Amino acid sequence: MCGIVGYSGSRKASDVILDSLRRLEYRGYDSAGMVIVNGRLEMHKEKGELKALESILPDIEGITGIGHTRWATCGAPSRDNAHPFMSNDRSLALVHNGIIENYIPLRNSLISEGAAFYSETDTEVLVHLIRKYHQGDLHAAVRRALEDVRGTYAIAVVEEHSPDIVVARKENPLVLGSGVGENFVASDVTALLEYTSDVLYLMDGETAIVTPGAIRIFDAGGAAVEREVSKIDWSLEEARKGGFEHYMLKEIYEQPHSITETIISYIDDLENLEILPSRPITGMKILACGTSYNAGLVGKYIIEEMAGISVQVELASEFRYSTKTNQCPLVVLITQSGETADTLAACREAKLRGCHTLAITNVVGSSITREADTILLTRAGPEISVAATKTYTAQLVSLYMLASLLAYNNRSLGEEGLRAMKKDLRSLPNYVSAVLDRASSLRDAAKMFKEARSAFFIGRNRNFPTMLEGALKLKEISYIHAEGYAAGELKHGPLALLDEKTPLVASCLNDHTYDKMMSNVSEVAARGSPVLLLAEDDDADCETVADLVIRMPPVKPLFTPVTLAVALQLLAYHVAKERGMPIDKPRNLAKSVTVE
Ligand code: M6R
Repeated sequence: MCGIVGYSGSRKASDVILDSLRRLEYRGYDSAGMVIVNGRLEMHKEKGELKALESILPDIEGITGIGHTRWATCGAPSRDNAHPFMSNDRSLALVHNGIIENYIPLRNSLISEGAAFYSETDTEVLVHLIRKYHQGDLHAAVRRALEDVRGTYAIAVVEEHSPDIVVARKENPLVLGSGVGENFVASDVTALLEYTSDVLYLMDGETAIVTPGAIRIFDAGGAAVEREVSKIDWSLEEARKGGFEHYMLKEIYEQPHSITETIISYIDDLENLEILPSRPITGMKILACGTSYNAGLVGKYIIEEMAGISVQVELASEFRYSTKTNQCPLVVLITQSGETADTLAACREAKLRGCHTLAITNVVGSSITREADTILLTRAGPEISVAATKTYTAQLVSLYMLASLLAYNNRSLGEEGLRAMKKDLRSLPNYVSAVLDRASSLRDAAKMFKEARSAFFIGRNRNFPTMLEGALKLKEISYIHAEGYAAGELKHGPLALLDEKTPLVASCLNDHTYDKMMSNVSEVAARGSPVLLLAEDDDADCETVADLVIRMPPVKPLFTPVTLAVALQLLAYHVAKERGMPIDKPRNLAKSVTVE
């Protein structure tokens, strides 16, 4: 995830910035850079680790500057794509976290007005736009430029000959550190802790001017805002987790943001996305491992429902053994890390078989991005906890977008339908937030599993793979044996394992599977197993068969795999916590599995 730092004071800015960037390294990055105001703007940036930037950094005297660590999203990891970016006359420089949704039209119009671009990034438009509106007042220019922008951002801007740093934020974090005769900017308090524990949080839509002697904050209308200083008494490790006890919980809570970022980078121009082969897609395969495989299974239901295209989902590790005669126009590889050996091997095999390969991955520059024919990027930011959470829901929303594109191309979805789908996807983060708001009910439900040795998860149709994922999450971090089943399968064998010590988790949402789910749950309840039901707010009947009901916000049936997944992540997290497990680093597991 990209990191921003800024300094305005009396120390050597390059030292403070380098040191602060080091504290953001844990977030993951692929390039870094800084600009120091030193009579002129002196910019240095480099691909790779901070060591690489440090090795090219001369001794710079300036006492104001901004710095950045970049996690590539728009444009490959490279020196040219690293931040900061400068205006063509070298009078302004800027760093940015987030996504500028409308950067292509903005870029085209700035080019027609004479701006020269040197990177593939969405960010570079911002610096040219601010320069265009700059008539002697940087703060006014930033505010005016942001009126033209659609997207999310945290930015810090400096200009030559001035100690001021102008910052702005929308849906991306930014904090301001207050010192004596010096002030700081950072995307994350960890960058500031060495220097100050007094911070001011910038709110959405606000801007600020940071100078050595003052921090002035303004609301969206430009009026001055009084903001109280907050005292941070976190250790570095606590700060890295943003006040959450574990990375996993932090990452669960990041999902409204990570889903938004994944959606907005593609949604506007979805119908023109060039990721599919030109030949007709009569059938397709999805190949993946673990959690990504479960996302693929959800993808199958969604694509078949929306586009009427038959989808086979295979474990990447088994693909090599499947029939070689079955040529397939499209093979989708899902891998958050982009480095899973089995998925990479499946990608090579699919290419040998003459298939077009499309990778859905979270890491730009990862091996899969070099091997697959085309890429659909999830923009969840780096995931530190071994258990995949925010990358899973980002994969799901990528699959909704892929399904919409396939359906639009084969006319299963018309203009009107596509517009409606885009609107629904944009509002999806609100439903995820609604689940997070109910987290306490899942914390309470976790007690039901504290002593369990085994647990079962059941669902039907598109919610069946979600229950597989719920079971995987639980076994991975709580070490309770857990199985997911299509609800109709229980009576064909697994029912024999259910007893009063084996809790059952069932999704019983208001869709066409409701009645059948209720009878499956009743069969289990009759055998004395404790039943935890995930049901919608207005469902009164479910209380009769359940020991405990978790209320889910009503959402269109197509999107329940997302909201249910978040609830099941929280359940697994709280069960593991109840049992005192090492949640972020479960035994025997690695974040990225690079052996076959
Ligand atoms: O990086 P990938 O998505 O290819 O990883 C695949 C699996 O190893 C991964 O999803 C694993 O199952 C998760 N850590 C489970 O939470």
